[in-house]
Amino acid sequence: MPDAAMLEIVDLHAFYGESHVLHGIGLEVRQGEVVTLLGRNGAGKTTTLRAVMGIVGKRTGSIRLRGTELIGMAQHRVARLGIGYVPEERGIFSSLSVDENLTLPPVVKPGGMTLAQIHELFPNLAGRGSTQGTRLSGGEQQMLAVARILRTGADLILLDEPTEGLAPVIIEQIGRAVRALKRRGFTILMVEQNFRFAATIADRHYVMEEGHVVDMIPNDRLAENTGKLHAYLGV
Ligand SMILES: Nc1ncnc2c1ncn2[C@@H]1O[C@H](COP(=O)(O)OP(=O)(O)O)[C@@H](O)[C@H]1O
Ligand SMILES: [Mg+2]
Repeated sequence: MPDAAMLEIVDLHAFYGESHVLHGIGLEVRQGEVVTLLGRNGAGKTTTLRAVMGIVGKRTGSIRLRGTELIGMAQHRVARLGIGYVPEERGIFSSLSVDENLTLPPVVKPGGMTLAQIHELFPNLAGRGSTQGTRLSGGEQQMLAVARILRTGADLILLDEPTEGLAPVIIEQIGRAVRALKRRGFTILMVEQNFRFAATIADRHYVMEEGHVVDMIPNDRLAENTGKLHAYLGV
């Protein structure tokens, strides 16, 4: 049963230059939970993940990881605390092979997954070690972007729209992998536009609008909140 707060965000404001994007948001992710951020384009979901990693212009408020304050901490130190960030653009190096991409991010903590475990999780990557990054499909690139974070020992994973632009059969594979990670004890904060997908994975959902968190819906209350969610998401 998840309980202790792994990540606790209180009154977080974030800015890009003069642009004030997050207006005092609060949320928490407990140890072992999968939590999603839902909301329309431009609501501030990506900025929330970037603010945790320290890659926005300026942040105020509080972001605590297992009690340690991240605001004011340098970006490279945040990663070393065991947070792995998989950005929306995935960041696969096209000139490098699959194995070179896999071993690029530095190991930050003991206990990272081995290549064999990664191949079990993502069979599509097995035997593809020398394939060049550009020769992978979008889905395989997404798997590689997640896989290389799992090697580093990070145990809090921030995923930005892992299913975006992918075919249903690939989305299903990503879903299976995320559920397997949850069973292994990973804690996951995931931006997701597709709440039907999110519902198959997450424990709770936060809804964002214009830089605010406007609602929190436990997954087992999702069905009775479908109408409200449609209104929030404009779908
Ligand atoms: N690098 C940036 N510089 C200035 N404004 C930005 C930048 N990135 C995002 N924004 C603005 O911040 C707001 C939130 O964006 P974002 O967090 O990317 O939303 P979401 O991920 O929910 O679609 C939007 O209005 C967007 O235009
Ligand atoms: Mg985004």
